[in-house]
Amino acid sequence: MTKPVNGFSKFTKEEKINWLITNYLQDFPNASKILRQYWNDDKELQELHDEFIENTITNYYLPLGIAPNFLIDDTLYAIPMAIEESSVVAAASNAAKFWLKRGGFKAEVISTEKVGQVHFMYQGNKEKLKTFFKIHKKHFFDDTEALTKNMRKRGGGITHIELVDKTEALANYFQLHCTFETKDAMGANFINSCLEQFSKTLVENAQHYSDFSSKEKQIEVVMSILSNYVPNCLVRASVSCPVSELNFKDYKGKEFAEKFCQAVNIAQVEPYRAVTHNKGIMNGVDAVILATGNDFRAVEAGVHAYAAKDGQYRSLTDAEIDEDGIFHFWIDLPLALGTVGGLTSLHPLVKMAMHVLKNPSANELMKIVAVAGLAQNFAALKSLTTTGIQEGHMKMHLMNIMNQFDATSIEKDQLIQYFTKHNVSHNTVVEQLKQLRGE
Ligand code: MEV
Repeated sequence: MTKPVNGFSKFTKEEKINWLITNYLQDFPNASKILRQYWNDDKELQELHDEFIENTITNYYLPLGIAPNFLIDDTLYAIPMAIEESSVVAAASNAAKFWLKRGGFKAEVISTEKVGQVHFMYQGNKEKLKTFFKIHKKHFFDDTEALTKNMRKRGGGITHIELVDKTEALANYFQLHCTFETKDAMGANFINSCLEQFSKTLVENAQHYSDFSSKEKQIEVVMSILSNYVPNCLVRASVSCPVSELNFKDYKGKEFAEKFCQAVNIAQVEPYRAVTHNKGIMNGVDAVILATGNDFRAVEAGVHAYAAKDGQYRSLTDAEIDEDGIFHFWIDLPLALGTVGGLTSLHPLVKMAMHVLKNPSANELMKIVAVAGLAQNFAALKSLTTTGIQEGHMKMHLMNIMNQFDATSIEKDQLIQYFTKHNVSHNTVVEQLKQLRGE
């Protein structure tokens, strides 16, 4: 039986791999070779990746693709996307091209507020706590001066600190609800450092506040941490055109636009559909977030919370046809992103992706990401409401199936040719491959 291991993080990379193979991969063919195959020949580059996390044994590749032809507010972008799902980049590129001929995408940053909270327990007179906070509020700013100096120089800093009474929800629970402006940084370290100082200031000042009883002086900070829920760090991306310009295959403009709006309306009222609808949006969002070295878990958590902000999980996009017959389609997304610091200044491919995107500010990146999400949703709904999703999906999946059966490049060319006129399914590809091989 495998035993627990002590001091694993202190092992060398070789030792870690040997331990893993001995304990978990004895019967996995070529384990050592596969792990090493993914190492970079450039030692320095490999070390950089090794040091991103603890216990690195190898690298994990995702394809990095480019979706060109995104016209956003009159600037043409090629958007880097890191994703494994075969149809996503193709769908984004198609949507980009579609809207390129119809005025492109528009985007605006509505707000850029980040949030952090000090969660604490206080047992005592609430009015006394409120007065204490009023008197000491300035100290929270003063005590973080050194921490906020650089951020203030860049136009950011702490914007508000409020005392919030949460005792109706949980006995003795209060918080300092704090908001921040972090400019081009995602700001996690900045915010958390400020919050930890706030918690010290809170505890220390409470201990010396003469109006508090000895029990009231014992404020207990439970935790100090930023929030990934950023409903006031919001960007809107949109497209619009006369319905007459939405002719698509056999679908006439008005008919297409109406069916499209119905699909969005369904995702507004039906959570089962809304989750899948928003998953499609996140195909685009996450791919750009990953390519630009941002935190996709933070974005995912915040976006889905936003989708449920009124108590029911809903679509992140909206669509309507106005009285003048103009089709409008838009998305509102909460996005706390950074274009400086973190991986953005470390990972060579992230740096390159940023360069491809014309080294955007955080606000510009918010717009690009929102556009990628909107484009992805447009492509998905366009397929779903017309041809169905499988036609395009399976075409893109063809390569995966062929690779699974080690098709040669000649076989691949023949199969691709064959499936321009036939429906792709796992079975039909296998059958066709067998025929080619005379099996
Ligand atoms: C698949 O990754 C995404 C879709 O299911 C999104 C949608 O249904 O809107 C196609």
